[in-house]
Amino acid sequence: MPNPALTRNKMGWHAASLSALSEAFAEACGPGVRALDIGSGSGIAARAALAEGAVVTANDIDTTALDAPGASIVSARFPRELHFEDGSFDLVHAASVFHFLTGNQVAYGLRSIRRWLRPGGRLFVQAATPYQAPFAPFVAEFERRKAAGLQWPGWIEKAAAWSTHKRLGNMPSSVHLFDDTTLARYAEEAGLQVESARLFRRADLNPSLFLDGRETVALIARSV
Ligand SMILES: C[S@@+](CC[C@H](N)C(=O)[O-])C[C@H]1O[C@@H](n2cnc3c(N)ncnc32)[C@H](O)[C@@H]1O
Repeated sequence: MPNPALTRNKMGWHAASLSALSEAFAEACGPGVRALDIGSGSGIAARAALAEGAVVTANDIDTTALDAPGASIVSARFPRELHFEDGSFDLVHAASVFHFLTGNQVAYGLRSIRRWLRPGGRLFVQAATPYQAPFAPFVAEFERRKAAGLQWPGWIEKAAAWSTHKRLGNMPSSVHLFDDTTLARYAEEAGLQVESARLFRRADLNPSLFLDGRETVALIARSV
C-alpha cells in the first residue's frame, strides 16, 4: 500500500487508500447522486464518487493538492465559509477533518450539513479518537471528562501538553478527538438520525499510531 502523503498545510495526511467509511460513501454514490466531500484533500473519496457517476462538490481550505477532474471545487473553510441551499445534496462525506474543528464548529457544521442534505440524505464522517498511541496519556482524562458530562471531552487545546509524538508537528496545535458515543451524540443534537457509529482501525493508518484497534471513529447519519 502507498504511504499517505503529508498535507501542505500540516493538517495531517492524505489517505493513501479508501477507508471502510469512505468506501461505504462511494458505494452509496451512483449516477446523478449529488455528493459533497468536505476536507477533500487530494480528492481520493471525490474521485471514487465521480467514478460511480455522482455529481461531486469537493471542498477544502487548501485545494492545491485536490485532483478530482469533473468535480466542482469549493475553496472555503468549513463550516462558516461554506454555503449551500437547503436540500442540495444526497450525500455528504467528511474524512479526517472534524478533528481539526472546535466544538462550536462541529455543532454548527453538523446543523449546516443537516440542512444541506435532502430529507433522507446521508452523512459519512470519519475522525481521530483518543485511542491512538500518541494520545494514550489522554485516554483516562477523556474518559473522566465524559463521565463528568463535559460537552466536548475530546477537545485538547494544546496537543503538545498530552503527547510528545514526533508526528504531532504535522498537525495543528489543537486537536479534537471523538469516540462513537460523543460523535453520535453531536449528530443527534444537530437533528440527524444516527444509523451507525463505530470504532475501527484504518488500513492505511501509520503503525506508529496503533493502540488497540479503536484508532478511528466512523459515523453514518441520516437527515430526517
Ligand atoms: C488529513 S486531510 C484528509 C483529506 C481527505 N479527506 C482524505 O481522507 O484523504 C484533512 C484535510 O482537511 C482540510 N481541512 C482542514 N480543516 C478544514 C476546514 N475547516 N474546512 C475545509 N477543509 C479543511 C485540510 O486542508 C486537509 O486537506
